[in-house]
Amino acid sequence: MSSKLIAPSVLAADFANLQRDIEMVNASDADWFHIDIMDGVFVPNISFGMPVLKAISKHATKTIDVHLMIVDPDRYIKTFAELGSNVLTVHYEACTHLHRTLQAIKAEGMQAGVALNPHTNINVLEDTINDIDLVCIMSVNPGFGGQSFIENTYNKVKLLKDLITRKGASTKIEIDGGVTNKNAKLLVDAGADVLVAGSYVFKSDDQMKTIKALKTLANS
Ligand code: DX5
Ligand code: ZN
Repeated sequence: MSSKLIAPSVLAADFANLQRDIEMVNASDADWFHIDIMDGVFVPNISFGMPVLKAISKHATKTIDVHLMIVDPDRYIKTFAELGSNVLTVHYEACTHLHRTLQAIKAEGMQAGVALNPHTNINVLEDTINDIDLVCIMSVNPGFGGQSFIENTYNKVKLLKDLITRKGASTKIEIDGGVTNKNAKLLVDAGADVLVAGSYVFKSDDQMKTIKALKTLANS
């Protein structure tokens, strides 16, 4: 079984000490940088944009996993590739032609991800799952860090895992929102491959230790 991945969400970092926090993730047991891009339209919040991602890319030595919470993401696929994104995730709810969007992401040399809001059923991916490298199951409503984990997520992870197995796909399952030491192991047991953790990592006293503990739990 391949190793389960930990992706600290930079949204919860100290933006006044961004380089320090990026170096901390570089030196830690974390696998990916999770980068939340919000446009104030698809979600009721604005996070940060291209210049900040450019600064992050300059220092990050690990996979850059970009989560676009924006309407009409096709407009920016090329830009995010140029900014160093390795995985580019768009929201199912923001794409009219999802299949076309996935092909466009891959054509730019990135892995293609699809995020599902808590209200969106797994079944909508029935016809695209073989084209998707990563499905991000939102375990909170997107827009803010620090929210509580929605318990129905376990059920969705199991249904998605079944779909992936049934279709013979190699899609990874990522969980985003409210991940802590309380749910990490249960999520992995349900089928998760990548755990995003923002507040739980960055608001802890010893961030490196918290990441290490999550990584150990996820792979236990
Ligand atoms: C929510 C973002 C998440 C968020 C997770 O809209 O997509 O990635 O940063 O933060 P925590 O782990 O604090 O819930
Ligand atoms: Zn996210």
